[in-house]
Amino acid sequence: MSTIRTRVAIIGAGPAGLLLSHLLGIAGIESVVIDQRSREEIETTIRAGILEQGTVEVLDSSGASSRVRTVGNRHDGIELRFAGAGHRIDFADLVGRGVWLYPQHEALKDLIAVRLAKGQDLRFGVTAVRVEDAASDRPRVIATDADGAPLEIEAEFVVGADGSRSVAREAVTGSSTGGYFREYPFAWFGILCEAPPSAEELIYSNSPGGFALISQRSATVQRMYFQCDPNADPNALSEEQLWEELQKRVPGTTLKEGPIFQRDVLRFRSFVAHELLNGRVALIGDAAHTVPPTGAKGMNLAVADVLVLERALRALLLDNDDRLIEAFPEKALHRIWKAQHFSWWMTNMLHVAPDASDFDRLRQLGELRSVVESEAGRRFLAEAYTGWPLEGLA
Ligand code: PHB
Repeated sequence: MSTIRTRVAIIGAGPAGLLLSHLLGIAGIESVVIDQRSREEIETTIRAGILEQGTVEVLDSSGASSRVRTVGNRHDGIELRFAGAGHRIDFADLVGRGVWLYPQHEALKDLIAVRLAKGQDLRFGVTAVRVEDAASDRPRVIATDADGAPLEIEAEFVVGADGSRSVAREAVTGSSTGGYFREYPFAWFGILCEAPPSAEELIYSNSPGGFALISQRSATVQRMYFQCDPNADPNALSEEQLWEELQKRVPGTTLKEGPIFQRDVLRFRSFVAHELLNGRVALIGDAAHTVPPTGAKGMNLAVADVLVLERALRALLLDNDDRLIEAFPEKALHRIWKAQHFSWWMTNMLHVAPDASDFDRLRQLGELRSVVESEAGRRFLAEAYTGWPLEGLA
């Protein structure tokens, strides 16, 4: 058994864990980051890509991701489409802010490169088994390394940034599943295709046949989703059938078709862990909460958690002041529940539930009209989508 000692042990090399290690490093606080996955898996697993303006500012100004502004694309609005017409939500005009399309795995490549260049102890293929002694001032991560040998990390603080199947959660909430959650009777069928963009901005479309989202990845690769059954088999439909499904859900736009090279079914869940802190173990990112993808909040919420926790860890570890760490759960949960609401609201407003009655369907169109026909409605959506102000940022 080998033991390593560090100030902060971070489980998970996703956006939350890597950004936290980066900001701690800037503050002079040493950390060790472990992840079960290989570097290649982390860098090539294709993930959604909408970054709030505040997220971009944090990544850019901290030097965590210098490519976000050059390779990413700024979007100043989205389109809500329903009942045969498109309605632009003009973020720039409504809130003077925008979002950036920059896929999560690209941000991860940047973060990994920066951390390794700074000498970060970052270990891939290391599996956390459990966290012990949360209540003491020397909590420990029990893990197995890439060769299957036991490894122990002793720290002053442990952070579970280990995703929706978090191992750290048990040490914080008392169970691996402990949380508030809701499931949805639909999922997204996602495709990646080689084609030029079909529209300049993202289209969120509600249609009688169900929801579709026309998103993008680059000038030559597009990402699109359509609402499907959570048990759908990703290989059951031919390419032609997939285009037919997508096309019928965005009436008014002719989609530019091209070879489909990836397909997947994404299930939806809303989840918030019952607790985010136990003694010297905290949860952030998907370990703390999951949102359905409709509001594009996942990575942004992880970044917001990191900012609150990083400041609290600086106070704790540099000044021996535990007031901010005690306040961490309440502070983080304030934003988490707003994002939960927004993600739930966008999801329910845009999808067609399998058991929707005629009343439900017509009420939903009334809701969509209430939003797009009111400046207050559009602004509410724009404020949430582009992101509420972040801790420590103007
Ligand atoms: C994506 O591009 O994958 C994407 C964009 C917006 C969303 C969700 C996913 O709301």
